[in-house]
Amino acid sequence: MNTPHKYPKILVLFYSKTGHMLKMARSIAKDAENSGADVRLRKVPELAPSDVIEKTPEWKAVYQSMSDIPDAVVDDLIWMDGLIAGAPTRFGNMAAPMRNFWDLTGKLWMEGTLIGKTVSVFSSAEMVHGGQEATLLATFPTFFAHGLIIVGIPGNIKELYSSGSYYGALSSGEPNDTDLLVARHMTNRMIDVTKKLRC
Ligand SMILES: Cc1cc2nc3c(=O)[nH]c(=O)nc-3n(C[C@H](O)[C@H](O)[C@H](O)COP(=O)(O)O)c2cc1C
Repeated sequence: MNTPHKYPKILVLFYSKTGHMLKMARSIAKDAENSGADVRLRKVPELAPSDVIEKTPEWKAVYQSMSDIPDAVVDDLIWMDGLIAGAPTRFGNMAAPMRNFWDLTGKLWMEGTLIGKTVSVFSSAEMVHGGQEATLLATFPTFFAHGLIIVGIPGNIKELYSSGSYYGALSSGEPNDTDLLVARHMTNRMIDVTKKLRC
């Protein structure tokens, strides 16, 4: 049983190599705080060898710019009431470090720990139609399997005509102001739903 509490505990979980998902994750975390949520911003642990990152100046710069953000641990999922998860597109699927993080959650799945918690998702690709929606949808089986309640973005959000999708927030390359506004609508809605269910 969960003890009722006033503010939903929201985990913003992401992976980013070149900074696009980092920008969206920081913006979402701020939006969630402004909505009165208790927020944890966490990055999934990197899988690439450190010498590979070291030899790629742009990657290294982004990696260092995230040093203030702790690595996620599975216990963060136990702590949260709701999750906002984002990973860049890798050929129509989530980047491997995010996939790997979920592959560590078998015990929670077996025990049903996440059942009834909420989740919203965000992604990014380089092209306008680079597979962002495919990536968003590809996260759903994992979240359905965990019993998470998926909160999307309804069609009355007018900015959906320029960015985002019913399935989650997205960007093509670096997120622009409209991308971040759609992400804010999604965040506010998922926090509202989370409050109703969990607080
Ligand atoms: C291995 C790999 C595969 C990728 N696959 C695609 C793709 O299929 N379509 C696309 O538009 N962008 C693709 N990208 C580009 C990234 O999805 C895109 O640059 C994204 O915005 C990066 O987010 P980040 O800056 O948070 O790492 C790929 C990048 C890598 C490294």
